[in-house]
Amino acid sequence: MILAGDFPRFKREPLVMATAYDFPFAAILEEAGVDLILVGDSLANVVLGLSSTREVGMDAMCLFVGAASRGAPLTHIVADMPYGSDAQPALAAMNAKRFRDCGAHSVKLEGPKFDAVRAITSEGIAVIGHLGLLPQTAKSFKQVGHSDRERDEVLSAAEGLAQAGAVALVLEHMAFDLAAQITARIPIPTIGIGAGPGVNGQVLVLHDFLGIRGGHLPPFAKAFSDVRQEALRGARGYCDAVRKHAFPPV
Ligand code: KIV
Repeated sequence: MILAGDFPRFKREPLVMATAYDFPFAAILEEAGVDLILVGDSLANVVLGLSSTREVGMDAMCLFVGAASRGAPLTHIVADMPYGSDAQPALAAMNAKRFRDCGAHSVKLEGPKFDAVRAITSEGIAVIGHLGLLPQTAKSFKQVGHSDRERDEVLSAAEGLAQAGAVALVLEHMAFDLAAQITARIPIPTIGIGAGPGVNGQVLVLHDFLGIRGGHLPPFAKAFSDVRQEALRGARGYCDAVRKHAFPPV
């Protein structure tokens, strides 16, 4: 189990983070040996079939955080603060405590919300920041960091989050050299998703790296297995067996 104080070591060794949302997949990730399980608000898209992460709230997130933490009792569980749950520092701290009560060891929040980071940290709960593409508020899904202004903003937000007490930063869909620059500049580990190799660790969405959902993957994701095909094979086998009176056996 990674404790908040363990994060500095990931400036030196690669950190593996993956999303999981339920009991069985969290158990699989724990057995596989991931360092951190993120119960991401991406569950709105990949589990609930909603079009935006903004459509999931604290009640739903708590349900999934509880399920994942029961599936992976020895792994550090990160709960994603859903849209609006961190809008003010006091609200953010209250919701982070709720997540802790559901089984999370830390929380992740999107954007340069320095006061919210301070408020949550002052409750003894570790915070992971998230910069670059911010799905809760993004107007476009373009890679971030191609203008001087954008680069300066992201760089100073990264420094501000580290100073406010964040233990790590997720950098999403960002120019690779900017992610590497941030990684060199700040004292806390960076975890990339579509941010290239110059970071301290990687995070991927479970349904992408296991090949659970059909269709196009984001350009930066990679499927390491084809669970969808295997599930389809099992489901078709079951349908077939029932229709041919081969199951249940007589
Ligand atoms: O919600 C999520 O899965 C995330 C990852 C993309 C980092 O925030």
